[in-house]
Amino acid sequence: MRLFSLILSVIAATTNAYTLPLNCTPNGGIMTSLTYGTEGAIFTVCAQATIHASPVPIYDVLIDFPRYSAWNTFVYSVDVPANVSSAADVYVGMPMTFHSLGLIPLVNSTSNERITYLEPDVMLPFVAWRFDLGMLGGLVMQAEHVSILHDIGDETTEYVSWETYYGAGALLVLTIKGNLQREFEDQTRDLKARVEGLLS
Ligand SMILES: *[C@@H]1O[C@H](CO)[C@@H](O)[C@H](O)[C@H]1NC(C)=O
Ligand SMILES: *[C@@H]1O[C@H](CO)[C@@H](O)[C@H](O)[C@H]1NC(C)=O
Repeated sequence: MRLFSLILSVIAATTNAYTLPLNCTPNGGIMTSLTYGTEGAIFTVCAQATIHASPVPIYDVLIDFPRYSAWNTFVYSVDVPANVSSAADVYVGMPMTFHSLGLIPLVNSTSNERITYLEPDVMLPFVAWRFDLGMLGGLVMQAEHVSILHDIGDETTEYVSWETYYGAGALLVLTIKGNLQREFEDQTRDLKARVEGLLS
């Protein structure tokens, strides 16, 4: 009996990704994140796309932060540590600064982020990074952006990308949720175009 529950918990620990959602929640509902779960969640933005590629090339574009300027209209550039020049150099714990457009009209925003998960080799590959400041406008805020790559066969992947926001600071971001949701959709469309363009 005890062995059985031990085995079950080992399976649960090693198949973390399988408990992740395979689709955006309908009607903008809260989605869990790996680091923070659902407790205290204020809201989620989510976008998904069917990409005509296997997960590997999508994963490589997704974490090749130095090249975001070549395709991403939302996060138009990313500052990475000096020793990082390609996807292969990215590591868990890596700090980075995102420069983005479109959240507030005519204002370029920046946010400090940190890689929390890099899992290219599991059955359901995923990557995540979290908002690194811990505070926004003097208020506590956490956020984590999770991307999963669901191989649906035939060189086709369902890409699902969401970010869940927590804490009082998230109430500030909630006021621009509509823009954030639109930018998540744009960024997902851009990723699809970039990957399919590289492969064609
Ligand atoms: C870059 O520096 C970080 C932090 O010192 C280190 O953990 C990482 O392994 C380095 N990466 C490479 C590719 O040298
Ligand atoms: C905002 O970013 C865009 C795109 O890179 C750039 O053309 C523009 O000069 C930036 N504006 C400011 C105020 O930094």
